[in-house]
Amino acid sequence: MTTIAVLGGGKIGEALISGLIAAGTAPQSINVTNRRAERGQELRETYGIHDLTDNRQAVEGADVVFLCVKPKGIPALLTEIADTIDGNDVSTVVVSMAAGIPLAAMEDALVAGTPVVRVMPNTPMLVGKGMNAVAPGRFVNEEQLDVVARLLGSVGDVVNVAESDLDAVTAMSGSSPAYFFLVAEALIDAGVSLGLTRDVAQKLVTSSAAGAGAMLAESGIDPTTLRANVSSPAGTTVAALRELEESGIRGAFFRAAEACATRSAELGAPATPEK
Ligand SMILES: NC(=O)c1ccc[n+]([C@@H]2O[C@H](COP(=O)([O-])OP(=O)(O)OC[C@H]3O[C@@H](n4cnc5c(N)ncnc54)[C@H](OP(=O)(O)O)[C@@H]3O)[C@@H](O)[C@H]2O)c1
Repeated sequence: MTTIAVLGGGKIGEALISGLIAAGTAPQSINVTNRRAERGQELRETYGIHDLTDNRQAVEGADVVFLCVKPKGIPALLTEIADTIDGNDVSTVVVSMAAGIPLAAMEDALVAGTPVVRVMPNTPMLVGKGMNAVAPGRFVNEEQLDVVARLLGSVGDVVNVAESDLDAVTAMSGSSPAYFFLVAEALIDAGVSLGLTRDVAQKLVTSSAAGAGAMLAESGIDPTTLRANVSSPAGTTVAALRELEESGIRGAFFRAAEACATRSAELGAPATPEK
């Protein structure tokens, strides 16, 4: 049985735990930590996992340690767990889910030779439909990478990417569920403005979003063709699409992706030294 520590049981930590358990991982094999004991208790009551507030204790003997705290918390967390991981009988793999923090910085903060993997996940992991972009560090072997891919594969898709692509990946999949939620929210408001009740507008938009997502994921047809297929000449859809294009939707997404990737790079840059 692979023993797993999830350090930071927030949104991504919980999504991972929930997905792993839904896919058959034994709850007893998972340790979760939070600084607030109440949050750990909540996770224990929901999933039957072990909750701790001591990160060192949580990583003792763990095969895989997922770091699910905010990026700014990663350096201190690595310093805290480095010696315990080095002292483990098993070769513990550290898997960071944090945006921005480079592999080299994490490898430097741990005892030399500790295997580290960087992953950019996203929250659809909560429903088993996550996207996990994986970049392995220098000290990870094939077997360890397979174990990490198997665990992540139980909560969604897994793609291997170069570390240098991870800021762009954050803009494409890490943060993009929020873009789609914003589009859904705006469309629901537009439906209310057309006279529908919010409840009905929400049902219509939610169903369309899920249906369009399934067509994109399952038909094997590219989005340009799917959109053209539902745009009859001089029809209703093309009238709406023209408004979206004239409002600058394409440019807005170019700028949004760029802002996201830039912010991801900033999060990983060394802090400006104090004067
Ligand atoms: N949310 C997303 O959509 C998303 C997408 C891709 C990647 N990520 C990455 O996933 C990571 C987690 O993001 P999130 O959205 O899940 O954040 P979050 O909801 O704020 O969760 C972070 C959790 O870590 C706990 N924590 C903080 N410091 C800790 C420590 N020293 N030891 C143990 N637990 C600690 C916090 O609880 P306490 O305060 O009780 O300790 C909190 O529950 C981030 O690095 C982010 O870059 C997030």
